[in-house]
Amino acid sequence: MAGGGARRRIRAGATGARNAKEATLDIGTVVVVGAGTMGRGIAQVAALAGLRTVLTDLSAEALAKASASIASSLEKGVEKGKTPREAAEAARSLLSTSTDLAAAAAAADLVVEAVFEDLALKEDLFRRLDAAAPPAAILASNTSSLPLTRIAAATRRPGKVIGMHFFNPVPVMPLLELVRTAETSGETLAAALAVGKRLGKETIVVRDSPGFATSRLGLAIGLEAMRMYEEGVASARDIDRAMELGYRHPMGPLRLTDLVGLDVRLAIADHLAKELGTDRFAPPGILRRLVAKGKLGRKSGEGFYRWEGEQALEKQP
Ligand SMILES: NC(=O)c1ccc[n+]([C@@H]2O[C@H](COP(=O)([O-])OP(=O)(O)OC[C@H]3O[C@@H](n4cnc5c(N)ncnc54)[C@H](O)[C@@H]3O)[C@@H](O)[C@H]2O)c1
Repeated sequence: MAGGGARRRIRAGATGARNAKEATLDIGTVVVVGAGTMGRGIAQVAALAGLRTVLTDLSAEALAKASASIASSLEKGVEKGKTPREAAEAARSLLSTSTDLAAAAAAADLVVEAVFEDLALKEDLFRRLDAAAPPAAILASNTSSLPLTRIAAATRRPGKVIGMHFFNPVPVMPLLELVRTAETSGETLAAALAVGKRLGKETIVVRDSPGFATSRLGLAIGLEAMRMYEEGVASARDIDRAMELGYRHPMGPLRLTDLVGLDVRLAIADHLAKELGTDRFAPPGILRRLVAKGKLGRKSGEGFYRWEGEQALEKQP
């Protein structure tokens, strides 16, 4: 995809964040690092919002796949009447790709990192971004669980580091969870809030803490649902229907666990129990037993349900 095109900037002033300084911050160029599931979605919404966007990855193949997938997603938006054709064309011209991280970062006002969920990898990347990006640039991470404070400590600009946690699929999901550390400046938060608004997202602000708001709350309900299933309070389907029909959750907690993967949820529960120093997140026996038996949810064919393709079938007690 070609770069260039009209460049619009976001100005974030003191409004929108407590403790924000008077100075304004300009976001004209967004660099997204990692062209996987999340990075390509973030790049798409940034370009569609009229921001010059550079998507980078180590792998040229990943970039080619991401470009094709973004082009097809934009085209679908046009066909469905959700995106005006001119807006999709403008987005295509504002989006470019690169395997040269340092060169891309040198032009960034905001970097959003979306590489693999690995603390050492992210620390190394933030060290390199800190060296390559202009001193005023904001460095954000899309991590869903890692401590932002540790990532920020790899840089000499912790005040300019913030979590920007998007949800999958990024063009569809309305939430942007902003994670601020004790050192994130008010100015940085104000700029991140303004970017979120520009991208059409609803923002929430959360202190850097294990599980942030989304994973912690989601897991609390998930673990309680598993305990209720284990105690025979109701069937898996009825526990799920309690939340779907009684609280308008789009999907019940046990079905969601099957989709996310029981092994993934077990790892998060162990992590939260340890980091928060509480047994509120101690994984229920049934979760450990199912994982030990290789029953990991939809991907293995069985979890709290038995799966036939996309269909979840109730298991016999
Ligand atoms: N997938 C989700 O549902 C989801 C939701 C919210 C947040 N997240 C978080 O977003 C991040 C990315 O997740 P994903 O699912 O998009 O991963 P992914 O595996 O789909 O993509 C990761 C990409 O990063 C690239 N990459 C790895 N190391 C790199 C480096 N040093 N420099 C440049 N590129 C590099 C890889 O080539 C790959 O294309 C993770 O931190 C994850 O926790 C994921």
